[in-house]
Amino acid sequence: AVPEREQWSGQIGFILSALGSAVGLGNIWRFPGVAYESGGGAFLIPYLVALVTAGIPILFLDYAIGHRFRGSAPLALRRLGGRLGEGLGWFQVLISVFIAIYYTAVLAWSSSYFVFSWDLRWGDDTTAFFTGEYLRAAGEPFTLDYVPAVAIPLVIMWVITLGILAAGVVKGVQRANVIIIPLLVVAFVAIVIYALTLPGAAQGVNEFFTPDFAALADPNVWIAAYSQIFFSLSVAFGIMITFASYRKRRSNMTGAGLVVAFGNSSFEILAGIGVFATLGFFAFQQGVEIGDLEGLTGVGLAFMTVPAIVSEMPGGAWVGALFFGSLTLAGLTSLISILEVIIAALRDKFALTRAQAVLGFGGILAVVSLVLFGSTSGLTALDTIDNWANNIGIVGSAVAMAVIVLWVRRRGRELARHLSAVSTFRVGRTWLLFTSILAPAVLAYMLVTKIIDLLVNGYEGYPAWYLGVAGWGSVALMIIGAVLLPQLRWRHDPDRFEAWPR
Ligand code: PHE
Ligand code: NA
Repeated sequence: AVPEREQWSGQIGFILSALGSAVGLGNIWRFPGVAYESGGGAFLIPYLVALVTAGIPILFLDYAIGHRFRGSAPLALRRLGGRLGEGLGWFQVLISVFIAIYYTAVLAWSSSYFVFSWDLRWGDDTTAFFTGEYLRAAGEPFTLDYVPAVAIPLVIMWVITLGILAAGVVKGVQRANVIIIPLLVVAFVAIVIYALTLPGAAQGVNEFFTPDFAALADPNVWIAAYSQIFFSLSVAFGIMITFASYRKRRSNMTGAGLVVAFGNSSFEILAGIGVFATLGFFAFQQGVEIGDLEGLTGVGLAFMTVPAIVSEMPGGAWVGALFFGSLTLAGLTSLISILEVIIAALRDKFALTRAQAVLGFGGILAVVSLVLFGSTSGLTALDTIDNWANNIGIVGSAVAMAVIVLWVRRRGRELARHLSAVSTFRVGRTWLLFTSILAPAVLAYMLVTKIIDLLVNGYEGYPAWYLGVAGWGSVALMIIGAVLLPQLRWRHDPDRFEAWPR
């Protein structure tokens, strides 16, 4: 018999897996700090506008493409838009490649810190511990000294992730999410509730939500909102196309999408409350203002500020373990989704079995990530690749997708009809207007501003040659791949084959 494309076992399996992808580091360490710095409670306005006018519409666009054309990003977009479409698909796959390499490193650190929590191993100077004792971060980019304390958890993370992927869509990806997501919600809600009982917590939450309406006049605040939404929903880089391709032909796509989008945002707001309750406690302990604290986002928040806070807290070891446990689980489910983009694309194009794609290409990625991040220059590389992949790669991909799919190939009406035919929440003119005009216009503006800013001001004071290699170089590789990969032959006629080899 002809093998069939893998399928989620049902709506819940899909929703939990899509939520697992969406809820990640972005919710926990990015949203709270970004919101705080961009107007506090007032940030919710641009945030919701961005969610409704760009996030959800482009999420639906991803779903429609994956579900109607039933393929990984390069296959679905090839069926939709020929070689040009396929090129865009590979561009998205390559963004995923770059993100996967550094995302795994953060997971490795986070799992180490889960272990360190039990005896609060970081001591008093958490910054010195993180960059010095733990990472042995070199000041110079590109000095590759192997660091076993990082390399070992990195290997473990790769083994776990590739193991889950090798088990398949239902037995691997779906099963992992069905177990992890409820666990994550319980663990995270527990920390937030506990944090709210600490002295100073109310003050922290209050500061988080205090609206600064003047911020709304600043275009950068709106840009921050759009980029947060994009990264956070995992749209425009192939994940949702791939996941939607595993749904049954008659599935409620938009209904599921709304659940995922609002679920993800709820988790962000919850994280905002939890993080600021904790910061409020810390400021109270130190007798300072929250505004004077440093390290409110990203690596600084997770690996420097949070350890310092839990050291001061009653029951801190537990809180630390729950925090780093949650961070690791949230990141793991996102990493799985991003690697599935790559695996699915390679399988579709080259007729590989799942095991071949996972062990072959996954193995190569694991080695690259080990060389780059198991070594002393990990921190700089992570920071730079992250900035370029997100601000140039993902945003560029979203603009290109709107232009190619909706303007060049003119498939907008067809996709809207497709979504409405299978879903409870119907889309029409408004959706078309948002996806084809409003969202791409805002995103194109963001992209251009960012490119100019990076060219003129550089990034974090790194030398220009280094940004040329790590930042612009990674974008150049994505573009080269997008041009070259469509030239390679498909092992099966992309317009005909329905199923994958097993
Ligand atoms: N949506 C994720 C987050 O909020 C982002 C992400 C997903 C990053 C998948 C990489 C891979 O953190
Ligand atoms: Na998210």
